[in-house]
Order: sequence, then C-alpha cells, then structure tokens
Amino acid sequence: MPLTRFDFPSDFVFGAATAAYQIEGSGFGGCGPCHWDTFSATPGNVVRAESGVRACDHYHLWPQDLDLIKAAQMDAYRFSTSWARVMPDGVTVNPDGMDFYDRLVDGMLARGLKPFQTLYHWELPSALADKGGWTNRDTCLRFADFAETITRRLGDRVASIATVNEPWCVAWLSHFIGAHAPGLRDIRAAARAMHHILLAHGLAVERLRGMGQPNLGIVLNFDHAEPASPSAADVQAAARADGIFNRWFIEAITRQSYPEVVLDGLAPHMPDRWQEDMPIIGQKIDWLGVNYYTRHLHAHDPAAPWPHLRDVPGPLPKTQMGWEIYPDGLHTFLTRMARDHVGDLPIYVTENGMAFADTVQDGAVTDGPREDFVFAHLAATKRAIADGANVKGFFYWSLLDNYEWAEGYEKRFGLVHVDFDSLARTPKSSYHAVARALARND
Ligand code: FCB
Repeated sequence: MPLTRFDFPSDFVFGAATAAYQIEGSGFGGCGPCHWDTFSATPGNVVRAESGVRACDHYHLWPQDLDLIKAAQMDAYRFSTSWARVMPDGVTVNPDGMDFYDRLVDGMLARGLKPFQTLYHWELPSALADKGGWTNRDTCLRFADFAETITRRLGDRVASIATVNEPWCVAWLSHFIGAHAPGLRDIRAAARAMHHILLAHGLAVERLRGMGQPNLGIVLNFDHAEPASPSAADVQAAARADGIFNRWFIEAITRQSYPEVVLDGLAPHMPDRWQEDMPIIGQKIDWLGVNYYTRHLHAHDPAAPWPHLRDVPGPLPKTQMGWEIYPDGLHTFLTRMARDHVGDLPIYVTENGMAFADTVQDGAVTDGPREDFVFAHLAATKRAIADGANVKGFFYWSLLDNYEWAEGYEKRFGLVHVDFDSLARTPKSSYHAVARALARND
C-alpha cells in the first residue's frame, strides 16, 4: 500500500513549490530586469539561451494553477515573491507587482491553501547586480527593505516566510562554480556572497521580527557528501564538501560560527570584521526548510586549488538531471538537523522532486519513476519523524514543469506537464497518485 496523508501526523502539511522567475514570466507588469535575464542572454550560460521571460505565464494563468494545487488535495503552496517585480530597480515599489501578489495570496486563501512565501528565490534586480550584487554588503540592507515592504502588504495573510532559498546556490554555485547568475568563478566574490547572503537573511529576520511577523525561517539545500573511496584523502575531501554545502549556513544560524574546514580556504577572502555580523545572522528562527535532491561522491584532487575537490560519478539510478536517487539522504539530513541544530523546531521539506523526460501521449503523461521517487522520499520523511525529527510538512518540487535555470526548459520537474508552446497544463500520473494519497475521507 502506498503511503497516504493518514500515515503522517494530522497537522502535517502537504504542498507543492514553485519560484517566481521559473513560472511567472517577467517581461511585463512593470517587472524590472534581474540578473537571470542577462545571464541567460550571454552565450554558453543556459541551454538554448532560454530565459524566464515567458516561462509558464503563471502571471496570467495563476487561477488555474492554484486550482490544480487544490485539486491535488494539497494543504499549502510554497511560492516566491520576485524582488524585481516588487521593486524593479531594487528600491522603488511597483504597485502592479504588489497587487499581483496580493491577488495571488487571496487566491490561495479562497481555495483553503496556506501561503508559504519565499522572499528571495534568485531574482536579484539588475540595478543591484550592477553594484556588485551579493558581493556588496549594501545589497543586504536593500534586501531588508524589500522584506519589510512586501511584508507590510502580505504579512497579515501568509502562513510563513522564508528569507532566502538555498544560500549555497546563491553564493557558491553562482560565484565559485559559476553555473548560475551572475556566473562568477572567483573565490573572493564567493566568500563575500557566502557571508552576505546570510547577513541579508539575518537583517530581514530582525526587521520582520520587529514588525511582529510570525513564522520566519530560511530554506537551505543539502547534498549528501560521500567519500569516493575509503582513503583518508577522499574522506577529508567529502568533509570539505560537507562543510561548504551542508554546514556553513546552518552553523552560522544556529551556532554563530563557520566551520574551520571551510574557513581554511575562505578566511583570507572574507569581508572585513565579518565576525561582528554573526549575532545578526544567528538570530532565532521559527522553522527550518530542508531542500534535498541527491548525493555526490567526492574525491581529493591534488591538482586543483582549494577545496581540492573532484566529483566522481556514482552507481545509483539517476534522474534526468543526472542526479543519483538516494532517499536515505533525506532521512539523514532531517534527523541530523534535529539532532545537531534545531532540536524541536519545526522542519519542513521545502523541496524534493525529480526531473524526468516526460512526454504527452494520447493526452496523458505516465511518469511512474516520479511516483516511485515521491513515495520513497515521503517514506524517508516518515522514518525521520519516527526517529524524532519534528518534520511538519513536505513540498514537492515542482507543481509545474518550468524554467530550470541553466537547464532552460529541458528538464521537467512538474507534477503537471507544461507545453511551452501552447502553455497547456496536463496533470501527470504522479499528480493523480499524489491526489489519491492526499484525499481526505470527508
Ligand atoms: C533547487 C531550486 C529550485 C529548482 C530545483 C530543481 O535548487 O531551489 O528552484 O531549480 O532545485
């Protein structure tokens, strides 16, 4: 028997997640340009140089998308409010943008869906990118202003607010690996972004807390770091990868410190007097979001500069992204966060899902592997709860096939298929399986 909602605590929240730039479309409604518009317009960065300018046109089609969430029997919707739509130059308010999110939140409430808002899911306004983006401390202050502005409008109706989605992607993937906007590959820029994105989080929490806003959290992504071999060098390589990916952000927030194994490489490149920011970064949060997709095998690479890492392909079955399917890793992180960091604080699985090369045949999409993936990760979540983690909800990534950043529209994560020519939505078999699992008896 597949799991159902009755296998989870009665207050457990099931939902789906999206992000503004990936679904809304951005070239209208007074929305300003963001660094993804220019990153994608630069050859070699994004598959087919695709951008989020049209995306799923959720800006206009949102009522039917919310209907789909409701009809999937879900309780909540995790969405993000684009900084570039609300403040096109990062500072000045766009009333149409505010109105859009106002309607969207009311639309959720009208359908009985709890709005789980994310403030920063990567739409950095170009005007702020011009000034150095996350390498510039001033961006943190502007972010706190944005947090306050949008919360004055929506804060009376949202169920929870996450400051930042996946600081590892914002900082490391985008400033060291160079795979996401702004596409830098520079250790000094990376060190600054690693710190400033946390400072932005802390300043926003401080501001919103001061306004009396409840349920403030952050969404971190975790990637199970496994040594490629039992050699001491590879074990240490995996520890460095674990430090950068899985320890840096949560330890700053819960211990007001950064792991030594990462400072070994980053300390010379950090902003001046970064230590003084740690009490702001380490403020109390009300909940933690865990995004989890996969694991990686890490080997020591003596030829590469710090962190001396080389990824080694693993043996497990893979998704369309080439990511190994490893549900145990979700159990590991949920229990590790509870045990080592947040204790009884609510934890939400804020993203988990798989890309699959779905096609529509005779009006239907059959995605059995995605069904297996979802239920295997729900089972891992249930085991984590049994092992003491206070997990309060699970959001599938994503409701819709959408703009998968550097992968363009090629990689499909949705429970609902999107035809990017006609924009037709077709619920996949996984959507129907989830709806069956979440049906209530009443
Ligand atoms: C996460 C992002 C999300 C989506 C999924 C597949 O890193 O938060 O926007 O791209 O991966």
